[in-house]
Amino acid sequence: TRSQYKFQKETEQRESDMQISKASEAVGAIVENVDVTRLNDQEFADIRRAFLDHGTLFFRNQKLTPEDHIAFAKRWGAIDLNRFFKRRDGYPEIAEVLKEPDQQINIGGGWHTDHSYDEAPAMGSILYALEIPPSGGDTLFAGMAAAYEALDDGMKDRIKDLKARHGNAHVFGEESPYRKAVGDRYTNADQAGQTAVHPVVLAHPETGVKGLYVNPGFTLEIVDMEPAEGQALLQELYDHIMQDRFHHRHVWREGDLAIWDNRSTWHYAMNDYQGHRRYLNRITIEGVALA
Ligand code: SIN
Repeated sequence: TRSQYKFQKETEQRESDMQISKASEAVGAIVENVDVTRLNDQEFADIRRAFLDHGTLFFRNQKLTPEDHIAFAKRWGAIDLNRFFKRRDGYPEIAEVLKEPDQQINIGGGWHTDHSYDEAPAMGSILYALEIPPSGGDTLFAGMAAAYEALDDGMKDRIKDLKARHGNAHVFGEESPYRKAVGDRYTNADQAGQTAVHPVVLAHPETGVKGLYVNPGFTLEIVDMEPAEGQALLQELYDHIMQDRFHHRHVWREGDLAIWDNRSTWHYAMNDYQGHRRYLNRITIEGVALA
């Protein structure tokens, strides 16, 4: 009807109070004064631009049902169903990131980027905080473009044409001690074993900005390099990226929503809240093959 149409137009044209500010020099931005269930097209376009520019976005005070979380995720692309995380009851799109008070090991407690073992790794992950311990349980993020830029020319030249192999059996497979420790929060161990080869220096598939694309979680080796030399090179790159100047630490509050770009960031979930529960929901978005 006419009045419905008018209301829609007013919604689209309402003044946006949204503010986006850098969280740190190397990675991350904070998006304020916005409800992700009610983004108009301009706000979503601004958010997408900021996501590409900063690699990770943080939204405070969101009140999301699982349906809202899924609907927001679908604005970014098709949902990539993670094979190994336990799924939320009734919502196969949602992976549970959970640690109970009596569990010792957390999920994601080491530097990594999600799904780098896939030919077309997930574009991004959208994590929503439902229960946060009284202190601790922060997540660290690292910016791969800033880390690449800061390399000296000799290293840039040395790695410019290299490729690395990534894999997941050592994390999610039957024999993985880590998987055994995580217990039934991981599933489908028999489906682990994917490997994929990607460039060490990735020109981001959407922006073309160069960043490092190797990570301690899933990178197995440098292709066509003697193993000891390859491992030494990977360690040198990791030591470089692990410098604080490339990081941002997110201190979670319940209702926080984070989205990160797996092609341009690493993350690390701190495991420093023994005896407390931490529960988040994660949805991953499909990506493209990396060249
Ligand atoms: C993850 O690695 O996806 C989990 C991150 C977190 O729990 O903060």
